[in-house]
Amino acid sequence: MLKTLALFPSGTCVDEQGQLWLGGCLASSLAQEYGTPLYIFDDATLRGRCRAYRQAMAQHYPGRSQVAYASKAYLNLALAQLFAQEGLSLDVVSGGELYVAQQAGFPAERIHFHGNNKSPAELTAALEGGVGRIVVDNFHELALLEGLLAQQGDRFPIWLRLSPGIDVDTHDYRKTGSLDSKFGFPLDTGAAKRALAQARNSPHLELVGLHAHIGSQILDAEPLALAATRLLEFAAAQDFEPRELIPGGGWGVPHNESDPAAPLDSYVQTVCQAVIDGCGRHGLARPTLVVEPGRSIVAPAGVALYRVGARKDIPGVRTYISVDGGISDNVRPALYGARYTALVADKANRPAEETVTIAGKLCESGDVLIRDIALPRLAAGDLLAIPAAGAYCLPMASNYNLAPRPAVVLVGGGRAKLIQRRESHQDLVARDVPLPTL
Ligand code: LLP
Repeated sequence: MLKTLALFPSGTCVDEQGQLWLGGCLASSLAQEYGTPLYIFDDATLRGRCRAYRQAMAQHYPGRSQVAYASKAYLNLALAQLFAQEGLSLDVVSGGELYVAQQAGFPAERIHFHGNNKSPAELTAALEGGVGRIVVDNFHELALLEGLLAQQGDRFPIWLRLSPGIDVDTHDYRKTGSLDSKFGFPLDTGAAKRALAQARNSPHLELVGLHAHIGSQILDAEPLALAATRLLEFAAAQDFEPRELIPGGGWGVPHNESDPAAPLDSYVQTVCQAVIDGCGRHGLARPTLVVEPGRSIVAPAGVALYRVGARKDIPGVRTYISVDGGISDNVRPALYGARYTALVADKANRPAEETVTIAGKLCESGDVLIRDIALPRLAAGDLLAIPAAGAYCLPMASNYNLAPRPAVVLVGGGRAKLIQRRESHQDLVARDVPLPTL
């Protein structure tokens, strides 16, 4: 079993008074200064994960490689800048993510534009912005992109997203590599073969790579390696030597004490070995290998901090402890049954005294963040810290009940910096247009 503290960012500690410290900052002081709910990212953990990925790729793959951060896991200006500094590439899936990356000054040639239904406006923005690669997902897009490029008389480097027919052990909503998926050209139906031929024959498309992404929060490296193997098998069968190979992201992280540890080095090694073996088997030159991690970079670096409020004891049934956030900032327990854990940030050295259910403050019975967790007795005003909250919480946040979205701080070396301010009530009406007064 993992210890709860091991799920928090590196350098997290608890002092003799039972106070939680993150990046050298006292959690309770952060709550005081920035309010709650508060999302706290640890600079050293973020950079450490980026470096661990780059080092693992350099160590296990005897060829060129790239680590492309999947922005959908969470992006804002500061994080985009941090990933640029760490030498990562960036996977974006929308005009919005592209815009944030551009505003952050992220090098355009290191941006890859994904998505299964990019609009003409988004494709135009990507072309005009000079992104490095467009990842073509379907025949509609192949035609659309060819049309746009034909108008300009240009040629543009693309990857084809293929659907390799691999089922993985994860929540159904996160499976993307089986035949019954909206993403990519299936290998099994002949669509991939036709797409490859069309792209190769196009005067406007320069087919440089093959891509697959089979799912997310995957804790077994074998299916991820199999995706790479299938891409190479397909390439060889079509007599196509890809210059770039992208077997996606998807590596998982532990969210609670009973989840297995997920060392990224062994995942990277397994995928690299599959590519080395596949190239050897088919006599292909080793392509530039690109991995696309999202969650496994940001999740362990992020902590959600909530203030405890109401308590409801239902004798013989359960005790609800309500906090000041909920599904508006973390929909993952409700949507995927994600199981998080927590520490009481101001009583972190006290033994567990009772089993409670942590509910949010949103008007919905499904607004539960953690079901049945053993904690010290909680009182109103206590602070609850949920680790491994850095991925897919904030980017999936909503204004349900018109809840303002949380503030975000980056901590390190005993200093905290606000990197995204809390939404205000004024923000909530900023897009509204009132009726004219009669
Ligand atoms: N590459 C592509 C093409 C993707 O679609 C994704 C994630 C990734 C890379 C990064 O996957 P990661 O390394 O983060 O697993 N909202 C869900 C996760 C959806 C993932 C979507 N695609 C959740 O909260 O679990």
